[in-house]
Amino acid sequence: MKWSAFFTSSIGKKFIMSLTGIFLISFLVVHVGVNACIWANDGGQMFNLASHFMGTTVVIRILEVGLFAGLLLHIIQGLVLEVQNRSRRKKGYAVPMGNKGSKWYSRSMGLLGTLLLFFLIMHLSHFWVPSRFTDLPTVEYNGKEVANQYADIIGVFQSPLVVSLYVLGCISLMYHLLHGFQSAFRTLGVPNGKYISLVKTFGVGFSVIISLAFAMMPVSVYLGWIN
Ligand code: HEM
Repeated sequence: MKWSAFFTSSIGKKFIMSLTGIFLISFLVVHVGVNACIWANDGGQMFNLASHFMGTTVVIRILEVGLFAGLLLHIIQGLVLEVQNRSRRKKGYAVPMGNKGSKWYSRSMGLLGTLLLFFLIMHLSHFWVPSRFTDLPTVEYNGKEVANQYADIIGVFQSPLVVSLYVLGCISLMYHLLHGFQSAFRTLGVPNGKYISLVKTFGVGFSVIISLAFAMMPVSVYLGWIN
């Protein structure tokens, strides 16, 4: 099979979804790690210095271009697969499966992905756009001047509506990952049996912990648990 034929076939599209999905998962690990610095309770110093490092290191800025390319590919292929699956479902299966064959969130990946897209548009406009396209106020630590992104976070999470939307976004993220994590490894060929059970168990733990950690960030700012 030619490469072009592979990438436009159903399995090729799923392959791209898996690779970009795993790449995005690795981004989430770094992102949650950097953000967790807000809990250092040091007035934002550790978080601001970590953000400054991420924003000014050349390799990381290059990876950021890859991140947005991966995100775009994941969204486009996801939409194409969703449309194909819907038209297949309309024709119906020989034996109707109802809800027995799969969990609701496995059948709702398109919807969960769309909710995440809305969340991301709001999220990027809150933090990434001001950080890249405006001059954020700065603070000085030991003679080093860095953007005060921490103050931005504290400001954004004063609104109960915004905090609620972030928590809903994180719940969508959890369900999207609950299916996506194990599905990505299945597509890449992890065989059924012991290995896939391991991937599934790890995937459930990962999805819950990472989403809970993200959700606790706006909540702990709003409730004044950090300073
Ligand atoms: C809920 C807690 C979260 C907080 C406090 C937070 C905070 C931030 C901040 C401050 C930035 C700007 C970084 C910069 O200066 O460039 C950022 C960027 C970004 N965030 Fe989040 N984030 C959260 C959750 C999430 C989630 C759940 C996702 C994914 C589903 C996500 C995806 C992104 C992306 C794609 C970017 C742009 C990447 C980049 O900066 O290079 N974030 N976030």
